[in-house]
Amino acid sequence: MKKLLIIFISAVILILVVQVIPVHRNESPIPGGKSFVNQFNVPNNVNRILERSCYDCHSNQTNYPWYGNIQPTALLLDNHISEGKKKLNFDEFQDYGKRRLRTKYTEIVKQIEQDKMPITSYLWLHPEARISETEKKLLIQYFQIQ
Ligand code: HEC
Repeated sequence: MKKLLIIFISAVILILVVQVIPVHRNESPIPGGKSFVNQFNVPNNVNRILERSCYDCHSNQTNYPWYGNIQPTALLLDNHISEGKKKLNFDEFQDYGKRRLRTKYTEIVKQIEQDKMPITSYLWLHPEARISETEKKLLIQYFQIQ
């Protein structure tokens, strides 16, 4: 019993201590009118799906859940976001060259066709981000003709 209490107290102390790690927020402003939607004339129905299912990790604006404010979950989220953004950031599409854009479009179609995105662990906590078969078709069609 005493052992359990010590483990419990240590866990609480550990959680309190890790709170000193600063929480990094992915909330940099999008330079006026330069967002993907404005720049590329993305239809509303496509943008709504991207906003709901992709932008948390692939844009400059993450919609944070409550556990995004506490450590160590904030660090885990930040890791996913920075990895995702490094590979693909919709808010930076206007700075990508033609060839890079083409590669990204092909990559998006591939990831959606293979059900690789949004990543599974994200879907556990964000079931609303799951994309239906109809939405999948819509996204694939949109990115194939770009
Ligand atoms: C929880 C965060 C998260 C969400 C939400 C998410 N992604 Fe990703 N995405 C990642 C991470 C992390 C990587 C890099 C690691 C990998 O390839 O698995 C990635 C990689 C990618 C890549 C590969 C880019 C390249 O050039 O290699 C594409 C394309 C992509 N995501 C598209 C999407 C689309 C489309 C959606 C929405 C339907 C989406 N992602 C939702 C985290 C996310």
